[in-house]
Amino acid sequence: MNIAIVGCGFVADYYMTTLPNHPELKLVGVHDRDSGAAKRFAAFHGARIFDTLDALLADPSVDLVLNLTNPSSHYAVSLACLEAGRHVYSEKPLAMEIGEAEHLVTLAREKGLQVASAPSSVLGEAAQTTRRAIEDGTVGEVRLAYAEMEDSMVFRENYRSWRSLSGAPWPAEDEFAVGCTLEHAGYYLTWLCEFFGPVEEMTAFSAKLFPDKGTSQTAAEIANDFSVACLRFRSGAVARLTCGLAAPSDRSLHIVGTKGVLSVTDGWNARSPIYLRDPAGHWRPRAGILGKVLRRLERGRPLKHWFGRKLPVPRSGATVPDTSSRMDFMRGPAQMAEAIRASARPPLADAFALHVTELSIVAQSAERYPMPYRPRSTF
Ligand SMILES: NC(=O)c1ccc[n+]([C@@H]2O[C@H](COP(=O)([O-])OP(=O)(O)OC[C@H]3O[C@@H](n4cnc5c(N)ncnc54)[C@H](O)[C@@H]3O)[C@@H](O)[C@H]2O)c1
Repeated sequence: MNIAIVGCGFVADYYMTTLPNHPELKLVGVHDRDSGAAKRFAAFHGARIFDTLDALLADPSVDLVLNLTNPSSHYAVSLACLEAGRHVYSEKPLAMEIGEAEHLVTLAREKGLQVASAPSSVLGEAAQTTRRAIEDGTVGEVRLAYAEMEDSMVFRENYRSWRSLSGAPWPAEDEFAVGCTLEHAGYYLTWLCEFFGPVEEMTAFSAKLFPDKGTSQTAAEIANDFSVACLRFRSGAVARLTCGLAAPSDRSLHIVGTKGVLSVTDGWNARSPIYLRDPAGHWRPRAGILGKVLRRLERGRPLKHWFGRKLPVPRSGATVPDTSSRMDFMRGPAQMAEAIRASARPPLADAFALHVTELSIVAQSAERYPMPYRPRSTF
């Protein structure tokens, strides 16, 4: 399938790094409203530049547009693509307002098109191994999940020096204005919704812990940088998702069932280790001296999820970026293309994307919504 990229910034290089994993996708060309960004990216990757979005959409060979622009542009760019009859795979969130996301999904349905939203980490080996372990009853009946999306005080790091492969600067101001929950909640909301189905009720709390991020932005321009969302799934499971830019980095997931606990070390690593422990959270090591030593070591540790029986995570030959985001970013568009060819509903598309977007928007700015919140969307 022929694809085109709109938005030639930091994340676009992650997509290009993982494009060779999917030879069935052919890049027709790229566009960025910043011609300098488009030129830098196109020169590095040997891609054709479309000077305008209209020019890109006028090319009949483009089947699927990857919308990799900043979140504030997602709605307008995806809308233009759908109106021009193109399928859209958008970076998260689908839109910044729930009504806008609903409009995109409705329009896509009316036009017989597909609109899907990143992240595609749920299609990775670690997520799929976790899903299978839950379905196999490895931990019994799941009652609770704790999902952490703590990204530490990145605003105190030397982020001005961070560059993507082709040289795009890390968009600090945009990240701080959009908010870490809108940026990161989707990574685990997609997993949780895939495992447990739609959310029936959510109670969220969010706050701005660092209104001054060391940029020239005013406090009003800075979004909440901490949120906790408690989710009740229609299937009965309950989850707590935390997103923050304060506490030390932690991207773990713990699934608590009646017979045991599954712990995923890092949701941004497609091949993250996964550990199985007993219902009390202990590794059940072989009796003897080793067992005693490990129990003693465990006792003194605040985080114990590196102890446990390691589940086998399938190997994959897929290339991933050599950064903290060790995911096959192109897997989402590739599986979308495959589903479109087979006239099937793609993963991460339509009502699923809308649901994850709605939950992320509400958790990012919880003070704007009455709690408990009952989502408008379902899938
Ligand atoms: N930075 C990361 O590590 C990262 C990782 C995963 C996902 N994402 C997501 O990727 C998206 C893009 O983030 P980024 O970090 O690449 O941002 P960025 O600022 O580096 O790049 C975005 C690019 O989009 C262009 N753009 C914006 N509006 C446009 C429009 N209307 N038409 C054409 N071009 C437009 C900008 O000029 C810019 O070059 C966001 O949704 C973000 O959440 C980012």
